[in-house]
Amino acid sequence: MIKIPYPDPYRSVLGSDRDAGDAGDAVLDYLENYILRTICPPDDTAGIIVEPVQSDGGDIVPPPRFLKGLETICRKHGILLLNDEVKIGFGRSGHMFAFEHFGVVPDAVSFGKSMGGGMPISAVVGRRELLDVAPAINMYTMAGNPVACAAAMANLDEIERLGLVSQAGHVGSYLLSKLNELQERHALIGDVRGLGMMLGLETVRDRGTKEPADREMAKIVMRAFELGLVVFYGGIYSNVMEITPPLIMTEAEVDEGVAILDQAIGEVEAGQVSDEVLGEYAGW
Ligand SMILES: Cc1ncc(COP(=O)(O)O)c(C=O)c1O
Repeated sequence: MIKIPYPDPYRSVLGSDRDAGDAGDAVLDYLENYILRTICPPDDTAGIIVEPVQSDGGDIVPPPRFLKGLETICRKHGILLLNDEVKIGFGRSGHMFAFEHFGVVPDAVSFGKSMGGGMPISAVVGRRELLDVAPAINMYTMAGNPVACAAAMANLDEIERLGLVSQAGHVGSYLLSKLNELQERHALIGDVRGLGMMLGLETVRDRGTKEPADREMAKIVMRAFELGLVVFYGGIYSNVMEITPPLIMTEAEVDEGVAILDQAIGEVEAGQVSDEVLGEYAGW
């Protein structure tokens, strides 16, 4: 398996940043004109797996043209396009499936987490000719558990009944606007971004150099937890807060949560949260 960078408009490793150009084009160019021409030619490439919005890698919304460009390269070279929607699928993005935002049709999609609303179930949905090939059968120990399947069916009914897909879209936009306001007040916040209810808040020590503020992020998350808000952080520099609330969250709850973040970030900026609070704590 070969990994290539995800196009990060704020902190691109291959291309320019959001102000100067499109980080997605740089990644597509690297894929088509370097990877596929050298170390991994199309004949050796079964598929390309991508998250439509990257989650643990830093909650990154790709530039608008990126996924369509990736699909075009896949079609041109006969490579399968596989989407990982384990975290964002089933409404979180503001569409039932995140790939719908980008006008692409993947050959297969993986689902998990939100599918069962907490019950353990996952699935791969794909074109028949992909999924019906195996002459042998693997039954899997946990596959097809009737309780988990019933929970997932009920969960899907609830998503529809409560209109949670559109709720994720509009409450998520409201949350993003509130995070933008926070960014205006706190120099520690380098970037905020998101699609629907999958949002990221990235801390930096200096907005010019974008030096990742990782310990500061750990303290913010810890302080927010003490104040009653559960968030966690990730990203390749451990400085991105992932905000993936339940889809039932309301605007009033957004206000409550953002007020806690405001306080926690302010206290960390003012040096009021000591290193000791972290103790053995790591991650979330
Ligand atoms: C986007 C994404 N894909 C895949 C996985 C892995 O799923 P599983 O734990 O079911 O293997 C995760 C788990 O965190 C995830 O967030």
